[in-house]
Amino acid sequence: MLALTSYFFISTTFPDCYWLFSKTKYNLFLLSMGKNITKVTTTFQFCDGGSCQKAKGEIAVREARAYLRNAGLWEDTHTIKTRCNGRCEDAPTWIVQPGNFWYKNVTPEKAVTILKAHIEENQPATEHLLYQEGWSTLATENEKTLPLPVFKPQNDSVYGEVLVARAFASDQHLYPLFQYFFQEPKPIGIQVGEAPIVDLVQPHQVVYRDAYEIEVKGAQVQFSLAIAAIPKDIAVPIAERKVSIAEVVWLKKKAIFTKAIRLKNKKGKHLVTFWIKEEDQRTWEHVLRVYLAMAPDQIRVEEVVNTTL
Ligand code: FES
Repeated sequence: MLALTSYFFISTTFPDCYWLFSKTKYNLFLLSMGKNITKVTTTFQFCDGGSCQKAKGEIAVREARAYLRNAGLWEDTHTIKTRCNGRCEDAPTWIVQPGNFWYKNVTPEKAVTILKAHIEENQPATEHLLYQEGWSTLATENEKTLPLPVFKPQNDSVYGEVLVARAFASDQHLYPLFQYFFQEPKPIGIQVGEAPIVDLVQPHQVVYRDAYEIEVKGAQVQFSLAIAAIPKDIAVPIAERKVSIAEVVWLKKKAIFTKAIRLKNKKGKHLVTFWIKEEDQRTWEHVLRVYLAMAPDQIRVEEVVNTTL
């Protein structure tokens, strides 16, 4: 009450003093918004990506933060929520620095054990670790593997006998591929829908319009594709240009273009096809290595077993 009275008196009588007073006074009660990271000795990175949220990771995070505050450790530690750490099969996951210690299946009970181990004992809670530097294998029983693309023989109505590998159709794979083709143009042909093939000679821009749609802009071709997950209630034209199927097609017949990456929507409609010339070994090897995860000298081809007698 006394403080308020003086405050009013000063503010009306000496406006300049009031500001000086109020600022000085006010600052006495302020807590810095930014963390003073010079004091931080341990950083806990909590994953709050989709799988970790589903696995109730937030409860462990709340427990951890409450413990750190109550134990007076808030200034010496830092907690950060991250997006997916790439180990969804072991959700919820945490990473602790320094040391690059990875934890798996973190429950509220494990949370405090992990904090105490690092802060009080300066060592990891080994029984809950997924990985620590120097380990050559992960401590997990949840390893999931994705089948790698394999070329399979097919008979195409237009191109006859071909080998087709079902490839990755996610933005994580398609966006880098687009950047590779368009940033410094590769000697490929682009076919938008069923339009004639355009020989790419100029660089084009590949830009994200929003979270799921990219636009290729340049002097030679312009098109948009949705390459990431789209909302369920999205407008029909955008849903129609959502890439759901990606195939690498290897034509048997001799022609200028003998390999192609075909992007289709879920109804099988051709959206865009990238054509690779027979002599363009460099682009083909990049596609094999980076896009299909195949060494050019170890191409995976499904063996055809003839069962007819
Ligand atoms: S969402 Fe947490 S590791 Fe993927």
